[in-house]
Amino acid sequence: MAKQRLEGKVAIITGAASGIGEATARLFASHGATVIIADIQDELGKAVADSIGIDKCSYVHCDVTDEVQVEKAVNYAVSKHGRLDVMYSNAGIFLLSPSILELDLCDFDKVMSVNVKGTAAALKHAGRAMVAAGIRGSIICTASVAASQGGYGPAAYVTSKHAVLGLVRAAAADLGRHGIRVNSVSPSGVATPLSCGVTGMTPEEVEQITAAACNLNGAVLKAGHVAAAALFLASDESEIISGHNLVIDGGNTVVNCAPSQVLEQAYNGA
Ligand SMILES: NC(=O)c1ccc[n+]([C@@H]2O[C@H](COP(=O)([O-])OP(=O)(O)OC[C@H]3O[C@@H](n4cnc5c(N)ncnc54)[C@H](O)[C@@H]3O)[C@@H](O)[C@H]2O)c1
Repeated sequence: MAKQRLEGKVAIITGAASGIGEATARLFASHGATVIIADIQDELGKAVADSIGIDKCSYVHCDVTDEVQVEKAVNYAVSKHGRLDVMYSNAGIFLLSPSILELDLCDFDKVMSVNVKGTAAALKHAGRAMVAAGIRGSIICTASVAASQGGYGPAAYVTSKHAVLGLVRAAAADLGRHGIRVNSVSPSGVATPLSCGVTGMTPEEVEQITAAACNLNGAVLKAGHVAAAALFLASDESEIISGHNLVIDGGNTVVNCAPSQVLEQAYNGA
């Protein structure tokens, strides 16, 4: 049997009714965690929890834009399971907008509300529960490659993900003194309902485009890769890592292939 890397731990994952969060809920549960899915898609979230197993996973309705609902989800974890070890703040939205010139400020508010305010609420209430119980917990947030570069989405999305990194670093500073770690995962394009819905592409098309931008030849980013990174950050294997942004993009954001192609041509006398 595979090593249980989260044995005995209780984890909340927001936005786990689908996509990256769902893959992470399945992986965390398979590694011995008791998982609480916190989402707004009630039917889907319950179905995912049931398919993982009622002994390992449950569902709570939680709109992360409402701080009270986030606090209730945390209280549910503590009252039902006696503790909270891991908070994975993953819920997020992406609204299409062609350019800053046509920026719809209502859409801007909506994106900031889910992606930033929701993350802040998760950090606050998970942090409070962990501090109150003296738990050296792990909080993980889903940022994005859009957290460190422009061009990966509309202004609201890019701004919101930059802000998630700011929150991670601020919370790492505040919660570190209590032994609580705060990190983020930053994937590039993953074929999920979010990316397919926004682009109108099939999962295969999203994967092809992401793979083409990836420096790592033959690598195809899947939700499971992000889940594996979150598992590492949730587990005690990363006990000394805090304030870190773990980028999962096959080198996309740190390797600019254009200059090396020019140099290769020069070397080959082309
Ligand atoms: N798919 C990608 O290419 C990609 C790349 C980088 C980062 N991300 C980020 O990954 C995270 C997960 O996205 P995904 O691609 O798995 O998309 P997804 O749409 O499959 O999952 C997002 C989940 O968040 C939930 N959600 C939305 N608003 C919510 C709210 N107010 N309260 C609670 N839950 C809410 C949705 O119901 C859904 O289940 C997001 O933060 C997204 O920005 C995605």
